[in-house]
Amino acid sequence: MTDIQSIVVLTGAGISAESGVPTFRGPDGLWEGHRVEDVATPDAYARDPDLVLDFYDQRRANLDRVTPNEAHEALGRLDAEWPGELLIVTQNVDDLHERGGATRLLHMHGELKKGWCLACDARAPFDGTMADRPACASCGTAGQIRPDIVWFGEMPYEMDRIDDALAACDLFVSIGTSGAVYPAAGFVQGARHHGARTLELNLEPSEGSIFFHESRMGRAGELVPAWVDEMLG
Ligand code: OAD
Repeated sequence: MTDIQSIVVLTGAGISAESGVPTFRGPDGLWEGHRVEDVATPDAYARDPDLVLDFYDQRRANLDRVTPNEAHEALGRLDAEWPGELLIVTQNVDDLHERGGATRLLHMHGELKKGWCLACDARAPFDGTMADRPACASCGTAGQIRPDIVWFGEMPYEMDRIDDALAACDLFVSIGTSGAVYPAAGFVQGARHHGARTLELNLEPSEGSIFFHESRMGRAGELVPAWVDEMLG
């Protein structure tokens, strides 16, 4: 891949699978035993906040039991050594990219380790148990902190910055995502429309596989380090 200066990488749950974080769309259609609309929508939170807070508390606690894998670490290396532009856009709410060394990183679906106070609108790092209804560090109101996670029906974060990066990139790489959830599923077409080369690294063809110039099928832990080696020469 010659003449590449600017890269956008999109990652999804597949990049964290080898770290032991479950993906969303398992064969049973359930996500850790729940239907997505029972835990990942504003309606679910309004209907049963205890269930939703407890679900995300468990997922947050699980982060202490997992570590970044070779794919996260390879992207950390790319981030440190790539001399051109790079933006890693992750749909993942875990913190494995950061722990793998990525800094040019954006969490478009929010982060497990952040809370959003609905009383004062502050978003802040959070590492406790929301089901205990803690007080907000900014305004002191108790019981108003929800996970700072983009639920179905809510707008993903930093879309303007992402759109600008997609329009300017020479290479778009999608890693470990099923291509089932928009707007991320449309990034490949957006980047291609602006003339970027597009590459997919996934265990199996994603729903939008036909839109990529090239698809490589396999485990992220193998494919991503090999691709980063190619890029860094
Ligand atoms: P999915 O669970 O839909 O897709 C994960 C993809 O990773 C699938 O295509 C798998 O084949 C692939 N995969 C699994 N293991 C892999 C491995 N070891 N190496 C490479 N690929 C592997 O997850 P996402 O596409 O990330 O949104 O889901 C997108 C969004 O849907 C999530 O961000 C979440 C969810 O609802 C919100 O929570 C807002």
